Amino acid sequence: MPSYAFLKKQYLPLADANLNIMTNFMHYGTGVFEGIRGNWNKDHKQIYLFRLKEHYERLFRGCQVLNITLPYTVDDLCKITIDLVNKSGFTEDIYVRPLAYKSSEALGVRLHNLESDFLAFVFPWGPYLDTDRARCVVASWRFPTEVPRQKLTGLYITNALAKSEAVSAGFDEAIMLNAAGYVTEGSGENLFIIREGKIFTPLTTDGALTGITRDTVMKLAKNELGLETIERHVERIELYAADEIFMTGTAAHLTPISEIDRRKINGGEIGPITHKLQKLYADVIQNKNLKYSSWCTPVYKK
Ligand SMILES: Cc1ncc(COP(=O)(O)O)c(C=O)c1O
Repeated sequence: MPSYAFLKKQYLPLADANLNIMTNFMHYGTGVFEGIRGNWNKDHKQIYLFRLKEHYERLFRGCQVLNITLPYTVDDLCKITIDLVNKSGFTEDIYVRPLAYKSSEALGVRLHNLESDFLAFVFPWGPYLDTDRARCVVASWRFPTEVPRQKLTGLYITNALAKSEAVSAGFDEAIMLNAAGYVTEGSGENLFIIREGKIFTPLTTDGALTGITRDTVMKLAKNELGLETIERHVERIELYAADEIFMTGTAAHLTPISEIDRRKINGGEIGPITHKLQKLYADVIQNKNLKYSSWCTPVYKK
């Protein structure tokens, strides 16, 4: 199966989707990206794009920050994404990477007097963290909270520094703190801690991304387990004393954390609330729980 891309208003094989090396966003991080999952349901023989519209609504919020004006609406981008995945014809879990970017072939650090465009591509992608229990470490790199918290490409360099620091020290993922020392999130995931039956997650104003999986898990915890998630400052020391900790992300799904800074969480085992949420989430994204079908957009016409 070839992967397809949408570039400069055309669908084409991913292998042929190239940009000029002077394109502005490559040099200054002037782009906003998304990550959308298509989850394969083998019984339905269908790929379901999860919370498609919400991803593009977030993309547009990032565009607002970077002064990117696109000749498309949210609905247009949803349609382009469905067409793109349909063309590629995969029968496995896939990932769509949309990018809104400063497309002028012009150098110079600025946001004004530059054209903007949109591209997207699709490819098969299994579990991001490649482990069922992540071992994490708090990064020495602090998350810059003065920059608006959106999926801005240039902002991800701190995350990349933190991730590589963690992996080179033998861990799976990094947890970042902000300049004030509060916990923000993983390099590509939001973070949740559970203590005495209560769920807590860092504030978006502390640097946590407004994650779509974060929102999904908060809704599932409330509706299905009767547990309200409390958004508040989270201190590093609370990570060590948590009963359960897990991370969420479109790529990483819901991944339990077994260890932080070499301290085992719940004896290194998956805790009961994490386990329930993991199961609920796995069913919802494959459209196996009809109560949440409106979150799942089918790609293939029957
Ligand atoms: C830094 C960061 N935090 C959190 C997330 C999770 O967001 P979502 O659940 O919308 O994928 C991501 C996902 O890409 C991310 O890059």
